[in-house]
Amino acid sequence: MHNAHMIIEQSPELRGQAQLVGAKNAVLVIMASLLLTRGKSILHNVPCSNDVLHMVALLQDLGAQVSFFQHEHRLEIDTTGVIGYKVKPEVMKRMRASVLVMGPLLARFGKADIALPGGCVIGTRPIDYHLRNFEKMGVEVTTKGDFISAHVRQFISAKLVLDYPSVGATENLLMAASLAPGITRIINAALEPEVLDLIAVLKKMGAKIEILPPATIQVEGVNQLKPIEHEVVVDRLEAGALLLAAAITGGDISIINARADTLDVLLMKLEEMGHLIYVNKNGIGIRLHATKMPRAVSFKTAPYPGFPTDLQAPMMALQCVASGTSIIEETVFENRLLHVRELQKMGAQIQVEHNKAVVTGVEELYGAQVIATDIRASCALLLAGLVAKGETIMTGLHHFKRGYEALDVKLMNLGAQLVINDTQEDMHSTADQPQKITEI
Ligand code: EPZ
Repeated sequence: MHNAHMIIEQSPELRGQAQLVGAKNAVLVIMASLLLTRGKSILHNVPCSNDVLHMVALLQDLGAQVSFFQHEHRLEIDTTGVIGYKVKPEVMKRMRASVLVMGPLLARFGKADIALPGGCVIGTRPIDYHLRNFEKMGVEVTTKGDFISAHVRQFISAKLVLDYPSVGATENLLMAASLAPGITRIINAALEPEVLDLIAVLKKMGAKIEILPPATIQVEGVNQLKPIEHEVVVDRLEAGALLLAAAITGGDISIINARADTLDVLLMKLEEMGHLIYVNKNGIGIRLHATKMPRAVSFKTAPYPGFPTDLQAPMMALQCVASGTSIIEETVFENRLLHVRELQKMGAQIQVEHNKAVVTGVEELYGAQVIATDIRASCALLLAGLVAKGETIMTGLHHFKRGYEALDVKLMNLGAQLVINDTQEDMHSTADQPQKITEI
């Protein structure tokens, strides 16, 4: 069990400049997509978070050669030697995104033996959309308990209609279709910025992909895809976390490489609260000057470009100390309000009915012992700790380390009073810690 914990003190207004690294939810799928090629690719702006290290280990398990120049955020991956198409269950279970190697393995080898990636606290997170549509593409899928064995009988052109614009299903099917003969159309596809960054990478590899309004991705399969060099899109979720930290502390920060066009709904909601937002003319670079009298706002999560489910918890933390009442509806995952209980421990006034939380702003939160239940809940509790009176101690830190490279350091550089205590036991526990890999 992890004893690593973060101690957060009530902090002054955050001030200064911050810079984003590449998006976790782009780099993981882009790393998986390299299995479609044979050769050495180079990725820049790669965050050194635990999920990235897990994906590195997975690719190495399949036979890839990987060098991660962590200080330069550069990842070099040579997939020439990849011969495996079986992913060990224990590797699959470490991270949901492991399922994203299925499409590339089917395209490269015509086979993929994986295990169900498992759900997590925010929901069962099944992969039925992935499997059902692979079958429509001509793949035979056999499921025995947690084990999934898939092989391509014969890829056929297909019209794939998604029940829901699932990010993972869109990405998995898109990658398989890139090397499948014929035309594949994915209707009701996800078009998150991270999906668009994957499409940019696939096109660089030589894939023939078109996005047809409103949300159809059309792919004409090619015979071969080549290695690439790519700079991963910056992380809009890290940008959101930093902006929300400035807002909740009444501060004034600038994020020099944030792309405003991927955060429209969040920025609109922050302005509705009374915060001042300045965006550079070219849309790259965002400054937030916080109001001292924030008004509560309501919002509902939705697929992009709606309010991101991954910013729901951190935005809820802001509503806990805004004036008025906020109604927050989580529509993407069925169980993504577990941070409410932890915020209530800090004095937040929140009522939950099904997937709705009604938040009544309070004058002050107070420090407490809280547990992070997922990556984004850890961010919410950190933000609440910045304004809570007294000391907040947060455990469940492995979630925080899975999703962010050094958000704690960036916040400390802006004035946040926090520290991470990795106990000796944690330093050596390998259960959830990915093996550090060679940094040259
Ligand atoms: C991706 O997860 C992200 N993860 C999530 O970020 C993000 O919250 C989510 O997209 C939504 O934007 C990565 O990109 C690695 P979905 P994904 O398939 O692909 C249901 C974070 O904190 N569904 O769009 O798994 C599913 O249960 C993480 O960084 C099915 O029912 O999300 C959910 O309710 C959390 N069957 C909804 O669709 C399926 O086959 C959206 O899931 C697939 C999904």
